[in-house]
Amino acid sequence: MKKPIITYLDKSFELFIEEKKIQERIKYLCQRIESDYSNPPLFIGILNGAFRFAADVFKYLKSDVSISFIKIKSYVGDQRGTLKELIGLTDDIEGKDIILIEDIVDSGSTLHHIIPQLEEKKPASIQIMSLLTKPAMIQYDLPLKYVGFAVPNNFLIGYGLDINEQARQLNDIYSAIENTEQQ
Ligand code: IMP
Ligand code: MG
Repeated sequence: MKKPIITYLDKSFELFIEEKKIQERIKYLCQRIESDYSNPPLFIGILNGAFRFAADVFKYLKSDVSISFIKIKSYVGDQRGTLKELIGLTDDIEGKDIILIEDIVDSGSTLHHIIPQLEEKKPASIQIMSLLTKPAMIQYDLPLKYVGFAVPNNFLIGYGLDINEQARQLNDIYSAIENTEQQ
């Protein structure tokens, strides 16, 4: 059967991961977390992309857990390149087990910047829960303990992932179709 195709900003995307498969995988990751931690960890979601994933994680966890959200403000600095400032972390995380919730880890640069800033606040541990990873792109060694799907290096949209702030509302994940005519 042909996969459904949608268009955003003149680019075509085909259905890649269906809602049902996403939900089943999240349920499985939540079960793993609940068996790994005897004391509930503190979840920290990374906005904007992870808002839907984080909400569904909280649908499947059975124990009493807490969540906080942070945001990364990127701006181009001097010649050293883009600076990433972490905003929104008001919780005291000292001595706590942290699980960072991210939508997708691409180069890993976002988390590579966030983790040392969190470590300064002396948490007991930090692990990452990411719905998606692009193993071919990763440039940093990260504690990627709970991963939903390892995916190829295609641009993805839906389920929180955006293209210029659009398409986050889609319940499934779609993958960009390469435009072969331009190659
Ligand atoms: P990283 O810092 O290179 O790991 O990039 C992580 C961030 O880039 C994610 O949190 C997303 O916001 C964004 N990103 C990476 N790949 C995609 C994609 O395929 N679609 C939409 N956003 C993406
Ligand atoms: Mg993100």
